[in-house]
Amino acid sequence: MLVDTFGRTATDLRVSLTDRCNLRCSYCMPPEGLDWLPKPELLTDDEVVRLVRLGVERLGITEVRYTGGEPLLRRGLPGIVGRTAELRPRPQISLTTNGIGLDRLAGPLAEAGLDRVNVSLDTLDPEVFRRLAHRDRLADVLAGLAAARDAGLTPVKVNSVLMRGVNDHEAVPLLRHCLDEGYHLRFIEQMPLDAQHGWTRRDMITADEILGLLGEEFALEPDEPEARGSAPAESFLVDGGPARVGVIGSVTRPFCAACDRVRLTADGQVRNCLFATEESNLRDALRAGATDDDLAARWHAAVRSKRAGHGIDDPGFLQPARPMSAIGG
Ligand code: GTP
Ligand code: 5AD
Ligand code: SF4
Repeated sequence: MLVDTFGRTATDLRVSLTDRCNLRCSYCMPPEGLDWLPKPELLTDDEVVRLVRLGVERLGITEVRYTGGEPLLRRGLPGIVGRTAELRPRPQISLTTNGIGLDRLAGPLAEAGLDRVNVSLDTLDPEVFRRLAHRDRLADVLAGLAAARDAGLTPVKVNSVLMRGVNDHEAVPLLRHCLDEGYHLRFIEQMPLDAQHGWTRRDMITADEILGLLGEEFALEPDEPEARGSAPAESFLVDGGPARVGVIGSVTRPFCAACDRVRLTADGQVRNCLFATEESNLRDALRAGATDDDLAARWHAAVRSKRAGHGIDDPGFLQPARPMSAIGG
């Protein structure tokens, strides 16, 4: 098991498959994009599967989430998912995506063994979408969401980051839409992980504000706390339930104490936290012929050094050098 010095066990492996993306969400990337990782630095499909296998067979990983950048841009994704589904004990397999291309890929991915998806959707207004993501792709995202639901990739979760003066008037319409379509909506506080380093506390819409906005239209009551486990989202019953909405208050209501995550970047670095400032290079070890024992020892050491919390409130807080798109949400 991957245990840290605070007694937390990492069972949820989040694997970034590419740092590229076909959107430019302002809380993540500048409009001109970034310098992408050169191809030879990326793990190959076989290397990804070898490390995931090690995690599942030897290190107690029970849930594997593929992320990006945008993971649907990785051509080998259905094959990687299929090979992950063959591992024993079979892990839960999920995907975090912007939804573009899911209309075509939801069926094949479900067939390959994908269990569920989380899709980003910050607005229902094509104009706002274009301003926020610098691309005109809202219709593709909505089609992708519907295809995921129809392919049984459920519960389909929707992630929304609200930004002051951009889309914070859409909290209620987004929730109505998701309730109507049968998606589980979670609102997320914006974190300081954008490549531009433009995050400010003043512009962040907090969990309290989100609950205030929703409370103008819906009756919200906290869900059973024991149902939460290590989930990042606090869950609320909407109008008496059974419908629910989630709030991920990463900054003002951190869930670090219950964190069960560890990350593998597209270039094969283990990160023990979104906000880690150090990484452990499994790729170079693997390419130099490391045995599974060697790799497991490195991975254990990387998790052991995990800090207690994200440190955003600490006076000397430094944003990690890697932006969200190169870490894997
Ligand atoms: P499930 O609850 O298993 O469906 O997944 P998830 O919510 O963890 O995954 P998703 O990729 O949809 O992420 C939702 C939001 O939670 C994103 O903003 C992530 O960046 C954030 N998040 C995920 N893991 C962590 C974490 O370890 N720490 C913090 N602070 N935020 C996280
Ligand atoms: N803060 C909070 N959430 C973010 N995401 C991307 N960047 C940020 C940020 N700076 C979200 C995306 C996606 C998930 C992987 O993380 O909206 O749903
Ligand atoms: Fe792409 Fe996700 Fe970053 Fe948006 S948040 S630019 S969809 S990687």
